[in-house]
Amino acid sequence: MSRKITSVVGGRAVDGAGSSAYASVNPSRTSEVVAEVTLADSHTYVDACRAATEAQSDWADVPAPVRGRAIAHIGRVVEENAEALARLVTEEIGKPYAEALGEVREIIDTCDFFLGEGRRLYGQTVPSEMPDKKLFTFRNPVGTVAVVTAGNFPVAVPSWYIVPALLCGNTVVWKPAEYASASAHAFFDLFVRGGGLPDGVLNIVHADGAATFEGLEQALSEGLVDKVGFTGSSAVGSRIGELTGRHLQSACLELGGKNPMVVCADADLDLAVQGALFAGFGTGGQRCTSLGTVIVDERVHDDFLARFVEATTRARMGDPTQDVLYGPMLDQKFADRYDEYLDLIGSHHKVLGSTGVGRIGRDNPRDGFVGDPEQGLFYHPVIVDGVRADDKIFLDETFGPLVGVTTFTDFDEAISLANAPGYGLSSSIYTTNPKSVFRFCRGISAGMVSVNNSTSGAEAHLPFGGNGKSGNGSRQSGIWVLEQMTRWQAVNWDFSGQLQKAQMDVAELVPELDFRI
Ligand code: UN1
Repeated sequence: MSRKITSVVGGRAVDGAGSSAYASVNPSRTSEVVAEVTLADSHTYVDACRAATEAQSDWADVPAPVRGRAIAHIGRVVEENAEALARLVTEEIGKPYAEALGEVREIIDTCDFFLGEGRRLYGQTVPSEMPDKKLFTFRNPVGTVAVVTAGNFPVAVPSWYIVPALLCGNTVVWKPAEYASASAHAFFDLFVRGGGLPDGVLNIVHADGAATFEGLEQALSEGLVDKVGFTGSSAVGSRIGELTGRHLQSACLELGGKNPMVVCADADLDLAVQGALFAGFGTGGQRCTSLGTVIVDERVHDDFLARFVEATTRARMGDPTQDVLYGPMLDQKFADRYDEYLDLIGSHHKVLGSTGVGRIGRDNPRDGFVGDPEQGLFYHPVIVDGVRADDKIFLDETFGPLVGVTTFTDFDEAISLANAPGYGLSSSIYTTNPKSVFRFCRGISAGMVSVNNSTSGAEAHLPFGGNGKSGNGSRQSGIWVLEQMTRWQAVNWDFSGQLQKAQMDVAELVPELDFRI
């Protein structure tokens, strides 16, 4: 049965003028509508930013330990609802159930991490260069945070922004991906009800990209947004970076990736194959941390490839309610775009890994497919061997179940190939030589490095983020996201009863610099 969903601004459901209808569909059974969504216009977006701004100072006045308790309660309520929320994620975006449950776990982990931060949010006491003067730093909330997220992690990634934003005393306007509206709305209800959040502290606006961008532009110019957090494509991320830059703000950007996996000749090849299989095809290759290209030492290329092809050919895929490596594409939009990426396969490439290429169906079957492929947006896994450094398939993010394979002869070449696409989110190296690990860490441009592990599957309390086309250097998660959600205030308090001028009225101890023993 499909749900009806509308935006909620300042605690009130908005179903007003200028809205349009959108159907969020189950990608495993595209005839099933998961939710009927009323998409808001840019005015509603601005209204939400206004409501958040109005609610902010009262929320900031709630003592941080009490806000931490709200985060603790949210974590508990999410845990109580974990199976239901995971089922909804599986239904709406086709993520295999076990993985969807892991995604919900990531919200709980994030709450667990930040609930205690309410009793820390440490500032510093700093010595002054003058007597009878004290220096302090305080972390203040930034204000209103506008969060715009993708739908491949419809509940985990939003929690990376929303949990610390709320904990730090900010209010939030959240615009989730349309194709993940039902999951987002369930998350919203769990947060508002579970946290006992006052009206306006967390607002959800269901809208398309154009209305959101227009609303954001307007809200920024009216001074209603103090921080933007965005997860999505590099192209949209650079537009958001440009827009916020004009308002002298720096957005927290988590963008695409073309994540390399370097496999050295001394690597445990079976372990590397396991990593490549999960990183390349888990979530249908639709993570920002998914594997882009395996860069394998030419001496072990044939051996690695044979094992990788065998594992991929045997992998169970299909119905995401079953035990499968991956399910359908997230949404029709992603299937269409992936079809275009498949066109990048050239005549010099060798295509391996399945009984076909492209959309799986009666005429293009996949051996061992779990379920009925005709009903959903299911695609063959594809290994493209022989990719070259100037191929578009090597340079561009190809969001979907496609992994390129290329070779290197010396280690410097491996690092330069790994950096060549110009992204810099995640990366991985398989080797048994510690020297190669540290040379890799030094040379790779990525924000995240896995050693003998998949490019995907970062833990929720390490800094998450990238460089180059993957972001502007901002980091989410753990203590590092606090830099995004707070601003430092430096306070000095002079109790000497006179004006002591810094750098001028400073006592000096006279050294004997020509002293020798
Ligand atoms: C994303 O695809 O936007 O590290 C985030 C991972 C997940 C998060 C991916 N924990 O693969």
